[in-house]
Amino acid sequence: MNVDHHDFLFDASHALPSDYRAYRRSVHTRLLQILRQNPGCRFLEIGVGPTFRQERFRTIDDLGIHYVGLDFEHVCAERRADLAAAGIADRDIRFLGNRVGTYLFNLIRLARNRETFDIIYLDGNHSIYVDLAAAIAAVRLLKPGSLFLFDDVRFAFGSRHLIQATAQYADGGQTKELTEDEANEPHVTIIIRDYLIPLFNFEVERSWSDPDWIALRAPRSAPWIRI
Ligand SMILES: C[S@@+](CC[C@H](N)C(=O)[O-])C[C@H]1O[C@@H](n2cnc3c(N)ncnc32)[C@H](O)[C@@H]1O
Repeated sequence: MNVDHHDFLFDASHALPSDYRAYRRSVHTRLLQILRQNPGCRFLEIGVGPTFRQERFRTIDDLGIHYVGLDFEHVCAERRADLAAAGIADRDIRFLGNRVGTYLFNLIRLARNRETFDIIYLDGNHSIYVDLAAAIAAVRLLKPGSLFLFDDVRFAFGSRHLIQATAQYADGGQTKELTEDEANEPHVTIIIRDYLIPLFNFEVERSWSDPDWIALRAPRSAPWIRI
C-alpha cells in the first residue's frame, strides 16, 4: 500500500480531540467492540498499563479470549492481584513481566514458543528506541489477516498534549536522548508509516482508525507469516 502523506490519518496538524477524556473512553469502547467481534481469539497487549480495565478483562474472560499481557513485572503483579480480587481466575489470562529493560525479550520468547495472535495491541513505551524493535518482533507473532492496533499514534515526547489527561507515561529519560526535532516527532507514526506499512504490506482498517489510534490488517499470506 502506498501511504499518501496528505492522508489525514498521518497528518500531525489534524485537529486533536477536543474532549480528551471522552476520546479515551471511545478508544476503550472501540477495543471492547473489536474483542466482542472476536470471541475465542488470541489477544496480546504490549503495555498492560497502571489502570485495571475490569470491563475489558471480564469481556476477555466471558468470551474465552486467550490473553497475554506484557509490562514491567511490578505492573503485571498488580494486575494479577486486581484480577484475583475481582474474582477473575482465568487460566487463559497470562502476564509476562520484564524486571529490567523492555518487553522485547518476552516477545522473542513468545515467537520461539511459536505463539501467534489474532489481535496485538501495542500501547507501551511509545519511543522508537523501545517500540520499533518491539513492533518488528510482534510482526512475527501475527496470524494471517490479524489486527495490529496502535494507541497514541501522534504522541510526541516533546509536546505532551495527548497524554496530560492520563499522566500514564514516565519518560524514562527518553527526552534526554532526543534532539528537540526528534522529541517533537511522533515515534509511533514513524513505526507504522515508515516501517510496518511499506515493509510488511499492512492495510489500514479505516473503519477502526483515527489519527491517534490506528488498526492495521496483516496480509492473508506473506513469507514472514507463520501458519
Ligand atoms: C499507556 S500504558 C498501557 C495502557 C493499557 N494498554 C490500557 O489500555 O490501559 C503503557 C504501559 O507500557 C509500559 N511500559 C513502558 N515501557 C516499558 C518497558 N520498557 N518495559 C515494559 N513495560 C513498559 C508501562 O509500564 C505502562 O504500563
